[in-house]
Amino acid sequence: MFITLEGIEGSGKTTQIKTMAQWLTAAGRDCLTTREPGGTPIGGQIRSVLLHPDNSDLTPTAELLLYVADRVQHLETVVRPALAAGKVVVCDRYFDATLVYQGYARGLDKDMIRQLHQLACEGLTPDLTLLLDLDPEAGLARAWRRIDSDTAHEMESRFEKEKLLFHQRVRAGYLDLARREPRRFAIIDATADMRVVRAQIESTLEAYFKRRPSTIE
Ligand code: TMP
Repeated sequence: MFITLEGIEGSGKTTQIKTMAQWLTAAGRDCLTTREPGGTPIGGQIRSVLLHPDNSDLTPTAELLLYVADRVQHLETVVRPALAAGKVVVCDRYFDATLVYQGYARGLDKDMIRQLHQLACEGLTPDLTLLLDLDPEAGLARAWRRIDSDTAHEMESRFEKEKLLFHQRVRAGYLDLARREPRRFAIIDATADMRVVRAQIESTLEAYFKRRPSTIE
C-alpha cells in the first residue's frame, strides 16, 4: 500500500508523517516512511540543486526533469522494492506535488507532466493521498518561524522565496486535484493544533482500512 502526504510549505507534513508511522506500526503494519525530493543518496544531491537559493536561474523544464529524475531513482531503489516486500510506504510528497508546483503554479503543461509520469514512473499512483490543507499565509508564517532551526538552509529554499500568489496557486491546484479524485484524496484541515490534525489523520486511516479490510494483517 502506497500512501502520500501533500500540502503547501508549513502544512506540518514532516511532523505528521512520524506519528502516522507510529499509528501504522501499532496497527500491525510494516511501514516505511520516505520523501521526495531526497529519499535516496542521489536524490539528496538532486534536492540540494532544486532547493538551493542560488539556483534562481533553473528553468521550469529543467526543474521538472530534476524532480522526475529524483522520483525515478526513488521509485526504483526504495519505493517499489518496499511495496513488493508488502510494506506500507508513506511518502512525504510525490507526483501530485509535481502537477501542482510545476503545472498549476509554474504553468507547465499538465498533460505533458502526466505523460512524463506515465513514461518514467509507469504512472504509479498512490492508494491514498492525505492533503494537509491550510491558508498559504498561515503556512508560510509557520515555515519562516522554522528558519532558526537546524534546517535553516532549506527554510530559505527557492520555493519559500516564491511570492504568496505562487503558494495560493499551489493550494488551489491541490484542492482541484482532490476534487477530481475524491476517492484517493482525503483533505485534512491543517490549520488546527497538531494533535487535532493528528486525530483527523488517524480517523482517516481507520476509515480507509475499514473500507479495505484485506489491507490489515
Ligand atoms: P519539502 O519542503 O516538502 O520537502 O519539499 C521541497 C520543495 O519541493 C517544496 O517547496 C515543494 C517542491 N516540490 C516541487 O516543486 N515539485 C515536486 O515534484 C516535489 C516532490 C516537490
